[in-house]
Amino acid sequence: MAEYDYDVLVIGAGPGGYVAAIRAAQLGLKTACAESRETLGGTCLNVGCIPSKALLHASEYFDAAANGAMAKMGIKVTPELDLEAMHGQRRDAVKQLTGGIEFLFKKNKVTWLKGRAAFEDAHTVTVADQKVTAKNIVIATGSTVTPLPGVEIDQKVIVDSTGALELPKVPEHMVVIGGGVIGLELGSVWRRLGAKVTCVEFLDQILPGFDGDIRKEANKIFKKQGIEFKLGTKVTGITSDGSTATMTLEPAAGGEATTLTADCVLVSIGRRANTDGLALDKIGLSTNGRGQVETDHDFRTSVDGVWAIGDVIPGPMLAHKAEDEGIAVAENIAGQHGIVNHDVIPSVVYTWPEIAGVGLTEELAREQGEVKVGKFPMMANSRAKTNHEPDGFVKIIADAKTDRVVGVWAIASVAGTMIAQAAQAMEFGATSEDIAYTCHAHPTHSEAIKEAAMAVTGKPIHI
Ligand code: FAD
Ligand code: NAI
Repeated sequence: MAEYDYDVLVIGAGPGGYVAAIRAAQLGLKTACAESRETLGGTCLNVGCIPSKALLHASEYFDAAANGAMAKMGIKVTPELDLEAMHGQRRDAVKQLTGGIEFLFKKNKVTWLKGRAAFEDAHTVTVADQKVTAKNIVIATGSTVTPLPGVEIDQKVIVDSTGALELPKVPEHMVVIGGGVIGLELGSVWRRLGAKVTCVEFLDQILPGFDGDIRKEANKIFKKQGIEFKLGTKVTGITSDGSTATMTLEPAAGGEATTLTADCVLVSIGRRANTDGLALDKIGLSTNGRGQVETDHDFRTSVDGVWAIGDVIPGPMLAHKAEDEGIAVAENIAGQHGIVNHDVIPSVVYTWPEIAGVGLTEELAREQGEVKVGKFPMMANSRAKTNHEPDGFVKIIADAKTDRVVGVWAIASVAGTMIAQAAQAMEFGATSEDIAYTCHAHPTHSEAIKEAAMAVTGKPIHI
């Protein structure tokens, strides 16, 4: 009889966990995955990436019809919102994709253990009262919403991202607390559908972690779209009477308090690693000061046979980062050499236009050495201009001595797609000259990347 029930047991079936489980099974390991949700796919497929993009896509069409962008191209329509149908297509997208993971589990012979997993020892977990043993256990339990102290999320007037995806009617006034990725994406959805949106951000600029020029430009574009910003401001308290919330605001640096009322408040001030109920103490595994599980470069924790990946470990909380770590951890467990290059992880905000970046910001790059920067505005890109998409730019940051590209940032309608090229170039160690001398199809938005690369050492053609 085998010493363990499974070679690999993954806890959590988000993009990190389900990918790790499938790859482990593909590599011939007997694999199970414990998931406590009703459906597979984790935060990303159920209440994150996928439903938010379904609403962003649909609301973008609505906005284009309502704000005159379609009329500009000779298509005159007066849109009527059927919010229930819009939610319906969101639910369909989630259902199809989560069902798809269930199909992949069956196809690859991954056993889904339904229920919450908790450690008994380093090779044993309990799932729904059943003890299961495995030679290797991968913690992929993801993250949950960071609460605002003293504020209760009722998912009606005061909502988190999950509640903001399900609102049954368009709020009159939505206040978004936190000008990060969730606030800007979901704030955009409801602004497009007719809500007045105010974003309260603690820092003096939105989108922390993004390049400084990008943050400023994004702020300008969102303001133009009608989102009101209260930067350098903190919310110190919220009361709700069940239909209206009243917030107390104070300047972050201290000063006089003001109040703000809204019929919907979205709390989006970050997410935190989820180790709730895992009983890590039973295996002697402690978390760091931010509640995360620490690992080495191979995703091993300090406990032999226990590994961790995705949002529960340090690094950007992104689905593709979790997925790549899922592949790498399975390969490492199988004795191969799974690697994730954490220096080249793209980040995309799926607003209009999209905002994307990979590698170092100009600020960080300058801290590390001398750099050269090339920029090219989308207004001078023929395709963007033809499509009436003049906002944004591409910025390339290269090492001043070697010309190696260390960061690429873009605001453009399709920046999320464009950034893949930049990530690949950086993964291959490209110089700005390599990009500048690569033939790009015309007319495409990607030509702006080529021209920004030309601007690093010389002159672009079209400005
Ligand atoms: P998760 O997806 O959080 O999955 C962990 C799973 O583990 C969950 O299903 C949970 O139920 C399960 N679990 C936890 N504890 C246990 C236990 N003890 N036993 C059994 N199961 C357990 N990222 C992007 O890259 N692009 C996007 O566009 C994007 N959009 C987002 C939009 C929103 C609104 C949100 C909230 C997040 C978004 N993200 C996006 C972030 C992305 O969802 C996460 O980075 C990603 O889901 C992390 O994957 P994971 O596998 O580490 O964890
Ligand atoms: P975030 O970290 O992106 O932004 C949170 C913002 O809230 C920050 O700007 C912070 O300064 C501000 N803040 C914190 N406390 C505050 C307070 N008391 N008052 C006012 N502002 C305050 O976090 P967010 O938007 O909640 O997203 C969580 C994670 O989900 C992100 O880290 C991101 O990686 C992931 N995500 C990714 C998406 C994508 O890739 N497109 C989409 C949505 C989420």
